Amino acid sequence: MTSSFPIDRIRADFPILSRTIHGKPLVYLDNGATSQKPRAVIDAVSRFFSEENSNIHRGVHYLSMQATDAYDRARERIAEAIGVAAAREVVFVRGATEAVNLVAHGLAERFQPGDEILLTVMEHHANLVPWQILAQKRGVILRHAPLTPEGEIDMEAFAALCGPKTRLAAFTHVSNALGTVNPVVKMTRLAKQCGALVLIDGAQAVPHFPLRIAELGCDFYLFSGHKVFGPDGIGVLWGKWDELKSLPPYQSGGDMIERVHLTHSTFREPPERFEAGTPHISGAIGLAAAFDYLEGVGWEAMHAFEQELLAYATERVGNLGGIRIIGQAREKVGVLSFTLATAHPHDIGTILDTEGVAIRAGHHCAQPLMEFLGLPGTARASFAFYNTREEVDRLVQALEKVKRYFD
Ligand code: ALA
Repeated sequence: MTSSFPIDRIRADFPILSRTIHGKPLVYLDNGATSQKPRAVIDAVSRFFSEENSNIHRGVHYLSMQATDAYDRARERIAEAIGVAAAREVVFVRGATEAVNLVAHGLAERFQPGDEILLTVMEHHANLVPWQILAQKRGVILRHAPLTPEGEIDMEAFAALCGPKTRLAAFTHVSNALGTVNPVVKMTRLAKQCGALVLIDGAQAVPHFPLRIAELGCDFYLFSGHKVFGPDGIGVLWGKWDELKSLPPYQSGGDMIERVHLTHSTFREPPERFEAGTPHISGAIGLAAAFDYLEGVGWEAMHAFEQELLAYATERVGNLGGIRIIGQAREKVGVLSFTLATAHPHDIGTILDTEGVAIRAGHHCAQPLMEFLGLPGTARASFAFYNTREEVDRLVQALEKVKRYFD
């Protein structure tokens, strides 16, 4: 184990990690669903409400200007942290789901009947359903790249599905259910060769490794704040400037307008064009604080620590009889999905909970993936850099209890 990684100090930064559940120390292994928040994020949000709270872009008074500054600085800080050219390319949204909907809504008119959108079978519902609705409205054909038995994208199939009719390719960077890290640069290049726009869902990638989004070659990249140790209700849609600029408003109302007449209006440029109404000011500030915190810990060290933990968990859980690990890609983040021959995933999750171990069980908002795998669902332990080997041991002990119960 990376001995230099200051795990005790890091755990002390997350107040919730010291609580007990059902009288037992919490083992939080549901980071794929949402991550826990460090004191730095909690304090940044609390400080905003205690000292700076006011609406932005509206007031001539001191507090409003201070809040506006804090919101604008948060955008700049996040742009820098994710490696994009300009803060104006960072749109604050509610989360990854809203970001996909915003792009699908904005692109809809460009599609003609018979155009194709290329997806994969491992997509989260958030990167499937908006395209289904668009496809129904515009007569678009949806194509889905299949997976190899290890849970990687079948790249030959992906390449074969890219064609002259492919107008958009939308795929996840990391599978929430399998942990597979997709070769997004290669996938982007293939899609671009066909003249398609490319959108990448980074909800499960951003919490796990450092990213320079502008270097991936895609047109849109999006993620949620709550999975990256920030607040919920805030997320980021990044778009290449020209692509963002070409999209029409998604929602309309105050703050996204240039000039309003009784019968028509003109709109501001991005990002404000897509941020109608009062935005989630404290959320943006909290998310910027999360990136500050993560950079303080060190992305490379975090990633290395998490990879060692994943290897340890894969070996220990994999050695339990009757367990089948679902998703054995060569490159993975800290996600361990598994099934147990004798127990339904929900039963596994419920018994683990009695031991204070929180995991997710079910289809993980990826029903088509479960159908493709021929499974009703899986049990999923998903790790963050604050998890420990001792917690993996607690998971294994709790799984032994499940096995005893059902064997
Ligand atoms: N998409 C989240 C997950 O994978 C909620 O659990």
